[in-house]
Amino acid sequence: MLPSSDAISPQSAPIPLDYQATTPCHPEVVTAMEPWWRDQWGNPSSRQHRLGLTAAAAVQVAREQLSICLSCQAEQLIFTSGATEANNIALLGHARAVARKRGKPGHLISMISEHHAVLDPLQQLQREGFRITLLTPQPDGLLNREELEAAITEDTQLISVMLANNEIGVIQPLPEIAALCRAHGVTLHSDAAQAFGQIPLNTKLVGADLLSLSAHKLNGPKGIGALICNPDTALEPIVWGGGQEQGIRPGTLPVPLIMGFAKAAELALKGLDSRSERLGALRNRLWEGLRQKHSTLLLNGSATARLPHNLNITVPGVSGNKLHRALRSRVSCSSGSACSRGEPSHVLMALGRSHQEAEASLRLSLGHSTTDKEIDQAIDAISEVIHKLRHKA
Ligand SMILES: Cc1ncc(COP(=O)(O)O)c(C=O)c1O
Repeated sequence: MLPSSDAISPQSAPIPLDYQATTPCHPEVVTAMEPWWRDQWGNPSSRQHRLGLTAAAAVQVAREQLSICLSCQAEQLIFTSGATEANNIALLGHARAVARKRGKPGHLISMISEHHAVLDPLQQLQREGFRITLLTPQPDGLLNREELEAAITEDTQLISVMLANNEIGVIQPLPEIAALCRAHGVTLHSDAAQAFGQIPLNTKLVGADLLSLSAHKLNGPKGIGALICNPDTALEPIVWGGGQEQGIRPGTLPVPLIMGFAKAAELALKGLDSRSERLGALRNRLWEGLRQKHSTLLLNGSATARLPHNLNITVPGVSGNKLHRALRSRVSCSSGSACSRGEPSHVLMALGRSHQEAEASLRLSLGHSTTDKEIDQAIDAISEVIHKLRHKA
């Protein structure tokens, strides 16, 4: 029998502060998806009957709506299963297409603080003969632009720099990196999974040739995302099939998820400024509250170039294992990415934190429904746990 969600009582649930791992679907997103699961169940590639044509028309409306949210052309949007797949298509698909034209594999540059959905495809490209350079961020998590420029060589094909980091929330200066890429004739890819819906994202201003998105980070459904492609950017598929999505991402389109993605984007952009301001103030209150009680806490990542809903701190002198175990019943948070496979955060270690410090770190990420009361309760819970661990040692 499949498990039921009734088993979890909301009264005893820990305070949710892990919204960068994923977010709940907005009720209006669930409503927008509903008819497309049940009544309008057509395949948008079926062009010979009404069910299929209705589904295709709906996908087109959703595509246009998303493109308005992103200030791009509807044709630039390739639906994928999420940001992982979008990153894989961008990196493998572009690198292989260019290598085929040039007759040999070239050079790609990225950062060691990227998500595994970028680092792992780069590792695959390395196995295929491509040269990969991974730059170390500065202690505040930001890219050093001089180092980036110095790393570019004649055979550099692509640079991949995420817009906002999933662990430390640091926002990279993408428009400046894009200008550098243009000056050197290099393609720019950016993983914007954590940025879309949280900060204004105008694809023209960001300037990337390839941009990866995910719906479940902005109160949309899991299992849908997109790659925004500049039409002049060489790209080949990484899987082959029925030719959907301009042949770049074949497979039957998940109509309900696409409808949910478009609705989530529309809702996320509505009131984005006021929500950012509210969540930024709550995040600052969390940090100040914790720091007042424990002045030795360390902030990870830039204090200013940062997503408003992210806080990442190191608790010196305590065991990460014990810290997370003691917090588990009171606050839902993480020590790093949900995709970290239990290893200490490679992002925090890239900033210079030790293995032990990286383990004793908390990523606290706020969501639309986070309240003042939850933040105050979280300050008390985290402070108490730190106090107990420090005084037991
Ligand atoms: C920066 C970043 N990239 C990629 C992903 C993977 O996205 P998805 O779950 O849509 O495949 C995530 C989510 O964990 C992320 O935070």
